[in-house]
Amino acid sequence: MNLRFDLLPSDIAEAHQQFEGWISTARDVNEVNRLKGVFTGRKASHLTTLTELLKQTPKESKSDLGALINHLKITWETALSLRLDQLISKNSTSSIDLTLTPPVIPLGAVHPIQRLEAQIVSVFRSLGYHVEEGPEVETEENNFDGLNITPSHPARRSSDTFYFQNHPHLLLRTHTSPVQVRVLKRLSQKNKEGVSLLESLEGIRFLSPGRVYRKDEIDPTHSPMFQQVEGMLIGKNIGLHHLKGTLSYAMKALLGAEADVRFRPGYFPFVEPGCEVDVRCPLCKGQGCRVCKSSGWIEILGAGLVHPQVLSHAGIDPTVWSGFAFGMGIERIAMIISECPDLRLFFENDVRFLQSMREVR
Ligand code: DAH
Repeated sequence: MNLRFDLLPSDIAEAHQQFEGWISTARDVNEVNRLKGVFTGRKASHLTTLTELLKQTPKESKSDLGALINHLKITWETALSLRLDQLISKNSTSSIDLTLTPPVIPLGAVHPIQRLEAQIVSVFRSLGYHVEEGPEVETEENNFDGLNITPSHPARRSSDTFYFQNHPHLLLRTHTSPVQVRVLKRLSQKNKEGVSLLESLEGIRFLSPGRVYRKDEIDPTHSPMFQQVEGMLIGKNIGLHHLKGTLSYAMKALLGAEADVRFRPGYFPFVEPGCEVDVRCPLCKGQGCRVCKSSGWIEILGAGLVHPQVLSHAGIDPTVWSGFAFGMGIERIAMIISECPDLRLFFENDVRFLQSMREVR
């Protein structure tokens, strides 16, 4: 295509002839930017003059002038940006401004639930406990039978528990207690000399944190998935005093020395006797409020002496061995510590909420 340079006003034609020379001799970014303003700037540049000119041009030469303007626009813009790139990369080392304030990079943080779990684990580690893990997909046998939960127990109903459609004896564990069954079964195994692992270890104490699932409607205090920490100690002549001493110590280590703890009788099929442990409500200091439902106390864990049935089911002699177990909800404790009224906030991951949780111990 022949470009009709004759259609250009003489001043622009002259400038275009000089353009290449000016561009190649431009020594810095400012000079290129000045040329950019003159040739392609948004106001009063050669390009805007030409666009205005196009509007007044008679029909016959409109397309010729249009093609020429396009050509000039591309030529100028390409040359300008190439030269800019050249100058910037040439000066890249010397153009760093060391006096600039560096950008603030937001720091990540451990999620409050994860952090609390780590704190609980570390308190019990200091008492000689180690961590055992169990699967979230469990057998009905470990989740219920091995824990002395009868076939007619309401927790077994399909309205309460997630079962797998094609595997009716598999489920999403409803608590971390089946880890007790797994560990006890392992410990009951005997070596060639007939000595069980439990005997050679002379007992065991472990903690087991993890996710659990229940068919609960979501509301401020319920979620179909939440997290628990299970604990168990097996030894000889273990009694309620061991349980009470351990949990009182652990709760104070976790919630502060001023935390007030009380033990009440409670029922769980896998312990006898069983108890529920409350802490004095940190919000109202026991005066009674919405969070503690006016009682002044908040239940935070279930515990008890391991039921002889649980031991014998796993192949451990309950006349020789005894122990205690406990289980607590992590979100529940997190809500108490952080005075957070809605469990859902822990799952929604709103950065503003998570950030506010960083200040909480
Ligand atoms: N598994 C119980 C629950 O999910 C909590 C629990 C209670 C665990 C008593 C225990 C225990 O180990 O001894 O509600």
